[in-house]
Amino acid sequence: VKSTKHTVKLSPATHNDLELIMAWRSHPNIYHYFKQQNAPLTWEEHSGFWHRRKNREDFIVELRENGAWRKVGTINVNNLDSDMPEIGILIGELTLQGKGVGGQSLKLCLDWLKIFGYTKAKAVIHTDNKASQQIFLQAGFKPDKKESTKEWHCLIYEK
Ligand SMILES: CC(C)(COP(=O)(O)OP(=O)(O)OC[C@H]1O[C@@H](n2cnc3c(N)ncnc32)[C@H](O)[C@@H]1OP(=O)(O)O)[C@@H](O)C(=O)NCCC(=O)NCCS
Repeated sequence: VKSTKHTVKLSPATHNDLELIMAWRSHPNIYHYFKQQNAPLTWEEHSGFWHRRKNREDFIVELRENGAWRKVGTINVNNLDSDMPEIGILIGELTLQGKGVGGQSLKLCLDWLKIFGYTKAKAVIHTDNKASQQIFLQAGFKPDKKESTKEWHCLIYEK
């Protein structure tokens, strides 16, 4: 999936991206707001997870700058066997955060879901994670009060 307005694209993550994803996910600024991670990853758990995953698609976020593409983050869609897939995202190149790349990538991910016939999606975001809440709200997600807790906001997208 490629954005026409911006120089961001999503491509399927492959086994060759595992080291990069592990490095990104092992930085405390990244996993700080993750529900199921509170320490750097080990290679065993990371590669084990990769081989076991199902009903899930992982994309690499690529950015084009000065004529060259580079990998700057990852976005994943879980529960693809349901009518409400769950989206997770990170921009692993830390100095690039806050420049619009996360928001653009999320919109491309929603385009991908629509192409495959999904009309709904959800995200569960820590209540302190303002940047993440902002990009999901801007992409059209709405807070789901019923599913939210004090610590975790559930946001739902419906086409
Ligand atoms: C969440 C994340 C993917 C967002 O990507 P990004 O490229 O930094 O996001 P963008 O630059 O597209 O947009 C961030 C928005 O949040 C806003 N924002 C950032 N920090 C904020 C804060 N502390 N309070 C309020 N708004 C904030 C920015 O102003 C921007 O909004 P705008 O477009 O209206 O100006 C990225 O910060 C990240 O990887 N964080 C760590 C991992 C993570 O938390 N992932 C999500 C788990 S659910």
